[in-house]
Amino acid sequence: MRTSLALSSLLSVTSALSIVFAPERHHVFSNPPLEEQYYKIPSIHESAVMARRILHLASEGTLVTSFPEKDTKSNMAEQDVEALWGLPAGLDGSPIGLMEYIGDCEDDGNPTILAIDIATPFRNYKAGSNISLSVRWWPTQTHTYSFLEDKRADAQDIPTPHTPAALPRFSLHGHLEDLNMKDFRNARVAACFVRKHPDSVLWQPGNDVHSSKYVRFVVEEVFWFGGFGDRARIGWLPVEEWRNVTKQEIDELRLPGEKKQKAAWWKQWL
Ligand SMILES: *[C@@H]1O[C@H](CO)[C@@H](O)[C@H](O)[C@H]1NC(C)=O
Ligand SMILES: *[C@@H]1O[C@H](CO)[C@@H](O)[C@H](O)[C@H]1NC(C)=O
Repeated sequence: MRTSLALSSLLSVTSALSIVFAPERHHVFSNPPLEEQYYKIPSIHESAVMARRILHLASEGTLVTSFPEKDTKSNMAEQDVEALWGLPAGLDGSPIGLMEYIGDCEDDGNPTILAIDIATPFRNYKAGSNISLSVRWWPTQTHTYSFLEDKRADAQDIPTPHTPAALPRFSLHGHLEDLNMKDFRNARVAACFVRKHPDSVLWQPGNDVHSSKYVRFVVEEVFWFGGFGDRARIGWLPVEEWRNVTKQEIDELRLPGEKKQKAAWWKQWL
């Protein structure tokens, strides 16, 4: 019994290590040529559906912008904020990534963000920075690398080895557009955002502390990193593929490690 446990954990160590440390057999950061593909690599469309489901489930992402060059810093108020936060010299043009709340509230692949004027990404964007949004899929809160077999059903679903490097993430590139809150359709968008982020009621537009507004991140380019390259697609996805994923496709797909939906007990009565 003991021996077999030791042996099986040793085996899982070696199989995990062989995946991580045998790049000649396992493409990690790129897809192998067609004749060397041991696994079926998801199609561009399948990858786009995965990406759209990740966006749909995500509540946070990292907004990446860069600090303006000195002469483009617009006004005294901006300089005051920088003085307040103690921005070091020499960061002009340097990128900074910060977590922001997001919501997939328009169902068309353009996430909604509640932009606080004073926050770094939005100040940088206003001063002319480009912007990107990075989102990752990580189904459980386990951040350790487990060499032992995990028999839970949802854990087995995650591609081995159980490591965040094997799981999908993507980067969206595009621009921001203000949502006109006089348009009644955008009230629905705001309601969706607050459902996802109840704590954001504190900094909704019109609050006493910070000036804020809803913006739409209009996606123009999508870089997809589906996981290890021998079994997942890695590369830019055509933006039309990102946009034309349907609600039904998003609802039907399950991501690696995502809990299968159990039918509610009352559904059997209907
Ligand atoms: C933003 O990106 C474009 C290319 O897409 C580039 O021409 C421009 O210089 C960039 N702007 C800044 C402020 O880096
Ligand atoms: C989505 O867009 C791609 C690229 O334009 C096209 O090939 C594909 O047929 C479209 N799919 C649907 C379901 O409209």
